[in-house]
Amino acid sequence: MDIYFEGRTVLVTGAARGIGRGIVEGFASRGAKVYATDILEAELAELKASSRVARGGEIAVRRLNVTDPDDVSTCIRDMEAESGGFDVLVHVAGGVRGQARKPVEQVTPHEWDDIYDVNVRGAFLVARAVVPGMKARRSGKIVMISSGAGLGISLTGIQAYASAKAGQLGLMQQLGYELGPFGINVNAIAPGFLRTSPDYERQWASYGPEGQKAMIESIPLRRLGEPQDIAHAVLFLASDYASWITGQVLPVSGGPN
Ligand SMILES: NC(=O)c1ccc[n+]([C@@H]2O[C@H](COP(=O)([O-])OP(=O)(O)OC[C@H]3O[C@@H](n4cnc5c(N)ncnc54)[C@H](O)[C@@H]3O)[C@@H](O)[C@H]2O)c1
Repeated sequence: MDIYFEGRTVLVTGAARGIGRGIVEGFASRGAKVYATDILEAELAELKASSRVARGGEIAVRRLNVTDPDDVSTCIRDMEAESGGFDVLVHVAGGVRGQARKPVEQVTPHEWDDIYDVNVRGAFLVARAVVPGMKARRSGKIVMISSGAGLGISLTGIQAYASAKAGQLGLMQQLGYELGPFGINVNAIAPGFLRTSPDYERQWASYGPEGQKAMIESIPLRRLGEPQDIAHAVLFLASDYASWITGQVLPVSGGPN
């Protein structure tokens, strides 16, 4: 199955590294104009300079903080004015914000909010900003990057992360229900563990050689995921091949969940 996005415009949040970067490259090498956004400006510049584009694809980079409602509104309005509007939104911004496992009684409200802000409130703010344009065109695809943590226990041990990723799935389902009549599909991917960023490298290192071996052996397909594995599932959900799928979560984890 060949999937191409010539003539389509895609917004990716949290695009600077890891999974987001893999998604940007997946779209741009298949003909899409991609707006790659993040708060990491140096990494965005490097992404633009080094990524392969093909079939007329293009990468534009913008600083966008998904937790700031004014920044989200203004930046998305400007990008829409420039591009004519988004066909696809992929909300990748999220993660554990540098936090590590600790007993629940030691978690501060600020730490809790920090993870919720980017993973859940950010998903809401960005979806809220792109939906009017998609409604006007009666067409759009929204894909959220949740986590296996949203379907069960988080390997990170971070309570707010498990809770936020489950909350993101609730938002996804509700928006799928609300926006279906406008021709807008809303779905989510629940990735398994990937060694993408300093936070996840720290988690991987904490397992030690024996724990790392045990983790790989616990995965039916016997390997960790790569950003491309997640990107391929996103490309499918953003394509016309997924036009009758909405409100669903697809685990991409090398196993059944
Ligand atoms: N790596 C894994 O094992 C794994 C597993 C399941 C889900 N995920 C999810 O995948 C997504 C991408 O994670 P990743 O593995 O590529 O590494 P990551 O957690 O480092 O990626 C998060 C990205 O979001 C950006 N970001 C953070 N706060 C932001 C803000 N306020 N505004 C805009 N961007 C912001 C970061 O700069 C970073 O580029 C995250 O949502 C993460 O929760 C990752």
